[in-house]
Amino acid sequence: MSGFAIAVDGPASSGKGTVARLVARDLGFAYIDTGAMYRAVALFGDRAGLDLRDGPGLAAMIPGMRFAFTFNDGAFQISVNGEDISRTIRSQEVGQGASAVATLPEVRRALLDTQRGLATEQGVVMDGRDIGTVVLPQAQLKVYLDAEVSVRARRRYEELAGRGEEVRLAQVLAELQARDEQDSGRAHAPLSRAQDAVAIDSTDLTPEAIVRQVLRLALARGARRDP
Ligand code: DC
Repeated sequence: MSGFAIAVDGPASSGKGTVARLVARDLGFAYIDTGAMYRAVALFGDRAGLDLRDGPGLAAMIPGMRFAFTFNDGAFQISVNGEDISRTIRSQEVGQGASAVATLPEVRRALLDTQRGLATEQGVVMDGRDIGTVVLPQAQLKVYLDAEVSVRARRRYEELAGRGEEVRLAQVLAELQARDEQDSGRAHAPLSRAQDAVAIDSTDLTPEAIVRQVLRLALARGARRDP
């Protein structure tokens, strides 16, 4: 990693994806959504008929997955082996599967190499749960985004309802709390704030206000817009 790296960590629906994407777009940096990579492993593992507790089996599948992240007409896309899976991976079901496979050390190890390989010379914004602590501990800027759980649940509910999924707010809140517990309580690379991360509470802030703050910090620390 020789370019400028920005690590954005935080719990589900904290707004980190939106913020990371906008910051990457503004700086002309690559954007890597590591949560989408765990989601892709859950999706492909399921399709391959693997048990989502089978760490070695899932890890063996990962070298055969070619990840590509692109911006298309302003929208972010992830594809694996040429297949655009951006929408498919956003369901609640795939999200639960992702949280489960993310507890497996073999899966984390296999994805770690891929993730580090994606942060090369170009500037990069990477978001997830363990970017500042494990994946890119040398990142020049680390941001930890959080918000009250009720606010995160409402955001998630609106996102799902907006896509036509039939969900109840109480159910979304319960699933979010279960996911928080699994992501923070697991033995390997749990969600936690790096000591040198800048903490931002997004409860009462718009994504644009957070983006401005992150851009100010990045530029002050020497980030340069990629032409
Ligand atoms: O951010 P997300 O909801 O798309 O992430 C899906 C799951 O993947 C989440 O439950 C935790 C896991 N994850 C992780 O363990 N480490 C990361 N760096 C990113 C996501």
